[in-house]
Amino acid sequence: MKRVLKFLGYSLGVIVLCVAAAALYFQIKGIPSFEPGLPADLADLHVSRDSAQVAEGARIAAMLCKKCHTDPSTGKLTGTIMGDLPPMFGQVVTYNITQDSVHGIGAWTDGELYYLLRTGKHRDGSWSPPFMPKFERLADEDVHAIIAWLRSDDPALAPDPKEYPPNDYNLFCTILSNTLFSPPPMPEKAILPPDPQDPIALGRYLANDMLGCYHCHSGDLLKVDNVPEKSFLFYGGGAEMKNEAGEVVRTANLTPDPETGIGRMTEQQFIDAVRFGKNPRGGTLTYPMLPYPSLSDEEARAIFTYLKTVPPIHHPVDRYKSAGLNQ
Ligand code: HEC
Ligand code: HEC
Repeated sequence: MKRVLKFLGYSLGVIVLCVAAAALYFQIKGIPSFEPGLPADLADLHVSRDSAQVAEGARIAAMLCKKCHTDPSTGKLTGTIMGDLPPMFGQVVTYNITQDSVHGIGAWTDGELYYLLRTGKHRDGSWSPPFMPKFERLADEDVHAIIAWLRSDDPALAPDPKEYPPNDYNLFCTILSNTLFSPPPMPEKAILPPDPQDPIALGRYLANDMLGCYHCHSGDLLKVDNVPEKSFLFYGGGAEMKNEAGEVVRTANLTPDPETGIGRMTEQQFIDAVRFGKNPRGGTLTYPMLPYPSLSDEEARAIFTYLKTVPPIHHPVDRYKSAGLNQ
């Protein structure tokens, strides 16, 4: 008996040592970094700043960038604390993306911005871990539009030196960034926008490639895949988030299942929910479901048409269980 216990004691000791060694390894290794420099074809990228391109970039950025990078006290894009992150991630801040040449992106080239938006990689080889999304499937013309907007005279982007100290990622983030997450590869050829006459293709592009609705609306934020359809419970809902009061809210099932998804929702109810945050059962949808007023009716309708083609998942979601609200 004693010998068995002794053996167990040793085994446990070895396991604890291994875990401690792995933790130390990741702590020292830090966030992965990569070969410095830019891919050759980005060295002389010059995006046109014509007014239509800037306006389109501003429309996309309103849906994709502003909620994370805006300082709520000034309305400027000097960065802020990401308040929604579960505590295990520690404190993460977003960075200054105003045109300030020291603290913001004023000194970046168009190619550097393109590289960061696609892969999260910087010219010096450092890498922005998963909190800064990577837009690996966005059409080239949409990435160019965002860059044109970043260079524009939008007052929210005027040079401003305010900034937080750089992120000091905790062990949990460091381990995730060395295991689960890695930079997406640069696209091998130009990415064309979808055919606007094909509502399913347009809806799939907007929902999956541009706005990432499936990130929140699949079953688990940590089981979202780079190939959207491979995400756990793809559009089946149930991922846990916090509303503004810090209470748990779970995402809605957006598959066409008639009982638990959007199978019985009318097109107009869907458009009103997505564009204006109207809850089909009355009232307003709960944060973090933010409305997308910059989408046109036609685009919201295309997302609905696409979602109707996603495999239905029968998955009842107790959306407000802990928040004590009625569904
Ligand atoms: C979910 C929140 C989130 C969204 C959405 C987001 N960002 Fe970021 N962004 C971050 C975080 C966090 C960082 C800091 C990452 C790091 O530690 O390197 C960052 C870093 C950056 C940087 C690097 C700045 C620097 O000085 O290193 C740029 C440029 C940037 N974001 C631009 C954008 C643009 C343009 C968009 C919209 C297309 C966008 N971001 C959308 C969270 C976000
Ligand atoms: C940051 C996470 C997040 C993102 C991104 C997001 N949603 Fe949501 N969505 C939610 C949450 C949480 C709810 C539940 C809110 C509630 O029940 O009040 C919700 C609810 C909805 C509803 C209401 C469904 C119903 O049955 O009442 C629709 C429709 C919807 N989202 C569509 C979308 C679409 C389309 C996109 C992409 C353009 C999107 N959402 C992006 C979190 C998100």
